[in-house]
Amino acid sequence: MAPILSGKRIMLGISGGIAAYKSVTLASRLTQANAMVDVIMTHSAAKFVAPVTFQAITQRSVATDTFEFWHDAGRLRIGHVALAHAADLFVIAPATAHTIARLALGLSDDLLSITALSYKGPMLLAPAMETNMWTHPATMRNVEILQDWGVDFVGPAEGRLASGEVGEGRVAEPEEIFEEACKVIGRGGPLDGLRVVITAGGTREPIDPVRFVGNHSTGKMGAALARAARDLGAETVLVHAPLAVHPPGGITLVPVHTAQQMHTAVMEELSKTDVLIGAAAVADYRPTDSSDYKLKKSPQQQVISLERTPDILHEVGSQREKSGPGPKLVIGFAAETNDLEANAVAKLKGKNLDLVVLNDVSAPDSGFAVDTNRVTLFERGGNREAWPLMSKDEVAQAIMQRVVVRLGRLDWKRSMGNSQDNLPTD
Ligand code: PMT
Repeated sequence: MAPILSGKRIMLGISGGIAAYKSVTLASRLTQANAMVDVIMTHSAAKFVAPVTFQAITQRSVATDTFEFWHDAGRLRIGHVALAHAADLFVIAPATAHTIARLALGLSDDLLSITALSYKGPMLLAPAMETNMWTHPATMRNVEILQDWGVDFVGPAEGRLASGEVGEGRVAEPEEIFEEACKVIGRGGPLDGLRVVITAGGTREPIDPVRFVGNHSTGKMGAALARAARDLGAETVLVHAPLAVHPPGGITLVPVHTAQQMHTAVMEELSKTDVLIGAAAVADYRPTDSSDYKLKKSPQQQVISLERTPDILHEVGSQREKSGPGPKLVIGFAAETNDLEANAVAKLKGKNLDLVVLNDVSAPDSGFAVDTNRVTLFERGGNREAWPLMSKDEVAQAIMQRVVVRLGRLDWKRSMGNSQDNLPTD
């Protein structure tokens, strides 16, 4: 779930390209996230997908004509223009070369371009066209103009195009557009201007090129935290070991494999980091020698000698103590099977953390790989809170809310975006 979209009004503009069919999935995804999705289609778009499809998915009217009347909250409104004033985000997917050109020129010769021209809030375009059209200087110039005005772009990707050619110009996948929409709409939120670095996944310590010492972490908890931080407006970095889930869009990904690589990546980020959250399951030991060749089996028993890996959070904690403040908040997780509380408190103190999130990883519904987690928070200063079983997304959102409180940003006023109060009363 993406609570950031709940109750938000999203204008979804669809211009004429075969990729219009993918916007049905996007409209459905946005609607399921409880956004109110108002669709505008160009006449060419309506040739690719029938407006009634979007009407059924969004359960709202779909407009194609400039002079169409629009039912909203019991009132009849002229066209979508009035509604555009109330939109929190304007997404155009697919955005054809022609639509991008019309927006850059400020033309207003159909409903989509009139609405876009009269709209002042955040806008996200997902271009889709043949490679030669995308790389044409005219399109590149138009994109630059729009970017200078603050318009966001997602994609295009490389892949198979409508012509059968393979190249750049394929529309971004609906999930990617959805993720980017969350990011754009979350901009200016309570973590605006802050950089949040999160570690996720289980590190892999090589024994040889095909085997490793690892653990059961999927990265679900870390990815959920990154999504929640992004949705509150933070510039978010996910330093991640191999993941079993898709990482959220709209964030910076730093892929690593080993504890040593994760340590290097986190240390490189540290001076720019406001909040550091360690949700990764970092190996405490690695094979002392890792073979360059695949080890062959033999009748003899094999013994793998292990040595300690760097403890990332411990090092961050001691640096804070010795040489100054460092990140404003450092949060660790404690994955425990026994002596839960004592071990969590030992980690809070031993690693000089502000907060430890304890999860009992022996419980079937908590910890590794599952979608839920039952956590207890231990804060520096003695506060302790046991939270009920929640989805990992909910746990992540609650932790990020705690970050907002701890950083004194509870009364943060969103700095951009339209609001429904702007709905004109003509
Ligand atoms: O990824 P999922 O499948 O969703 O599972 C989520 C999770 C169980 C991995 C997650 O909720 C979790 O508990 N992560 C921390 C797991 C862990 O390694 O805990 P720990 O008690 O061993 O380490 C304590 C803290 O120190 C952690 O924040 C850890 O990231 C950090 N650490 C540990 C070792 C090390 N060498 N360097 C570290 O920074």
